[in-house]
Amino acid sequence: MKKIGIMTTGGDCSGLNSVINRVVLGATNRGWRVYGIVDGTDGLCMRPANVIEMTPQTIPVELARIAGSFLHNGNACMMNFETAAKTGRMLKFNKMLKDSLATLKLDALVLVGGNGSFSLSYKNSEIYNDLSLVCIPKTIDFDIPLTDKTIGFDTAVNELTRYCDQLLLTARSHHRWFVVQTMGRDCGRLALHAGIAIGADAIIVPEIKFDVDDLVKHINACERDYGIIMVSEGITLRGHSGRPADMISRKLTAAGIQNRAAFPDYIQRAGDTTATDRILAAKMATCALDAIENRETNVMTALRGNECVTVPLSEFYAAGDLVRDPNIPELCTSNAYIEPDDPLLDVATAMNIYIGQTK
Ligand code: F6P
Repeated sequence: MKKIGIMTTGGDCSGLNSVINRVVLGATNRGWRVYGIVDGTDGLCMRPANVIEMTPQTIPVELARIAGSFLHNGNACMMNFETAAKTGRMLKFNKMLKDSLATLKLDALVLVGGNGSFSLSYKNSEIYNDLSLVCIPKTIDFDIPLTDKTIGFDTAVNELTRYCDQLLLTARSHHRWFVVQTMGRDCGRLALHAGIAIGADAIIVPEIKFDVDDLVKHINACERDYGIIMVSEGITLRGHSGRPADMISRKLTAAGIQNRAAFPDYIQRAGDTTATDRILAAKMATCALDAIENRETNVMTALRGNECVTVPLSEFYAAGDLVRDPNIPELCTSNAYIEPDDPLLDVATAMNIYIGQTK
């Protein structure tokens, strides 16, 4: 009988409980035991490690749809990769994690995380030498290379859609525009997908140069005097500082366009998990358990079309753009962005959405 661990790391998103629930169901069905590591690496740093044995009743199926992580994602005040790197205690930290995993005698660990956690796992793989490490990609930013979807992205797009659907009604009443700032860090995929979904009139993302005068012209040429301008949080405007939606809003006001900035903030990471994300959770959980059965290690699950496959973490790391982590000087994170040939860019142009200088 195998003993496997599961932990959630990095920023939360909706879908984490669905993944945990599906991993527990699938593992129990194989006759395995599952241990939930509480608070990610924080739980592994505690003595004894903060771990609970999980059964299908631990997260009942009717609660698997809710956002957040039943296992928590870590406490910023604890020692973690970031604080360990800053205080020169990386070796000690890695040893603490390795010792904990050895004490727990786990055969495998399912790490549900984002590109930061995966990059760290790849770069510090000695921690997981004695077990099978299988990563499941989750993030509302969808900035992980080599997978067609990440857990939590679809729910975030849906939450933004719901939010903007309501904003449009008040926008119409007041003949005004809303500049909606989405999350996503320096990846514009969340803004692009949600912008198309809600019928935004402009979508501004970090990957594509834009011009405020062109944006103003575009808005002035619209038949409507209300609507949504989607702005990804990673954009910059030369000579300006502050929140991106505020910067754009001020420019529009200066051009005589009635508008308000709006910030959906953390609701993008909340909301009941959509059916699409739940199905993805079930697919990725099954793929992860198969990988453990086949003794694969240092891999990540990835959606390719309709199929879920495993990809070595080395390929994940090589495929992305390597960006230095501002908080962990030794680390470069592997990032994915909107590709110049993303078909949604053509769709946006065909829908007369201002998207910047794409060609
Ligand atoms: O990576 C997920 C994300 O929600 C980003 O979109 C956002 O920039 C960031 O996390 C916010 O992080 P924090 O929870 O530290 O405020």
